[in-house]
Amino acid sequence: MADKNSALWGGRFQKPIAEVAHKFSSSIALDGKLWREDIRGSLAHAEMLGATGIIPEEEVDVIIKGLNEISHEIDRGEFQFDPSMEDVHLAIEQRLIQKVGSVGGKLHTGRSRNDQVALDERLYLKQAIATLNEKIADLIEALLTKAEEHADTVMPGYTHMQRAQPVLLSHHLLAYIRMLSRDAYRLDDALTRVDRSPLGAAAFAGTSYPIDREMTAKALGFSIVMPNSIDAVSDRDHLIEVASACSIIMMHLSRMAEELVIWSSTEFGFVTMSDAVTTGSSIMPQKKNPDMAELIRGKVGRVYGSLINLLTTMKALPLAYNRDMQEDKQPMFDALETTTDSVEMMALVIRETTYNAERMEDTVRAGHLMATEIADYLARKGMPFREAHHVTGKIVAYADKKKKSLEELTIEEYQSFSDKFKKSIYRSLDPRKSLEEKRSFGSTNPEMVRAELEAWRKRTQD
Ligand code: ARG
Repeated sequence: MADKNSALWGGRFQKPIAEVAHKFSSSIALDGKLWREDIRGSLAHAEMLGATGIIPEEEVDVIIKGLNEISHEIDRGEFQFDPSMEDVHLAIEQRLIQKVGSVGGKLHTGRSRNDQVALDERLYLKQAIATLNEKIADLIEALLTKAEEHADTVMPGYTHMQRAQPVLLSHHLLAYIRMLSRDAYRLDDALTRVDRSPLGAAAFAGTSYPIDREMTAKALGFSIVMPNSIDAVSDRDHLIEVASACSIIMMHLSRMAEELVIWSSTEFGFVTMSDAVTTGSSIMPQKKNPDMAELIRGKVGRVYGSLINLLTTMKALPLAYNRDMQEDKQPMFDALETTTDSVEMMALVIRETTYNAERMEDTVRAGHLMATEIADYLARKGMPFREAHHVTGKIVAYADKKKKSLEELTIEEYQSFSDKFKKSIYRSLDPRKSLEEKRSFGSTNPEMVRAELEAWRKRTQD
């Protein structure tokens, strides 16, 4: 290690970096993961150096052959990164020079690790977003299948965690599908800002070599060449956007997870999760714990943490590149990996969950969920809604006192509160009828929900 400084940074360095400083600053343990992207970027850069005549084609061929060999070596586990290397870029370059000799040193012409790392991260993010979006599509599919199975299951809807009004379980599950679909759009939108090539910005000021930035961008599948070299090496807001999209996904998953945890309790009994996604207790034999849902809920903190980590790392950083930015790897990988794993796990949890329709429907009958229907009934008969609400409140209090459900009250009892009540009130008290009576667009009306299910099914088949 003694001459590493002078070998890499040139003659200006007379003394090796302190062991502890090397350990403190090396990122190879983390950014080693970017080797595929790093080699892809180097291949495109080398081709361009040849095509523009910056270095002779014969030398480019040697470099390309060497890089391809290194790729195979890493793939087969034959080449392990030298831990004394500072980062993945230097490790691969050093290996190239080892293999092909000093000509390998020409690869870095017109390039800097600053544009190199910015490029590697963008290549990684493009792939990671595609994978995450596939997992989201699969989770939507799992939810849609359950929603179709339960197209007509009635459940109590909640506000403030109090039984509020009956809704279709399918409508409830479709709400999650809507959230996830926005999540996918959010990622796609962030992708348009990830999909820009920083390569060729060099350290930050550009280069005097006649490089062709369009050519490398095209070869690497980027839509746009970043037009400002200073911005190209110092922008991480595209990454922050992705971490933010991941945080929102995790927030959505945590709501689903929380609900599944509560719904699987004996108190609710709305769902039963299979043994594939639950665990037992080492001491209480009766228990079946919803660990996977809990862990999804628990992992949210890591992803939010990554977002805050990135925002804080970038805060107040002067232009252009600063070494602080190396700290972006850990939150970048962790946010993407944790979110992708969590979405995948949620799809399995949903598939392994049975929704207990009977129990849900029984619950709708208790807790005066139909009170709003009574108020609407009176309002339809001409009573101002505020007044109808007040009268209904009195009826609910009366039923509670008599320990009766709203259906059990007699017509005489209803009429003692208002002469607008007719026998037809009992039709309004039927939860299923009340769903059918919903008319507003986007409501839990069974026909509208069915149309929504069909539209989603068609969309997933396109
Ligand atoms: N490992 C560095 C990072 O991840 C690569 C860029 C280093 N650039 C430099 N000028 N030291 O940020």
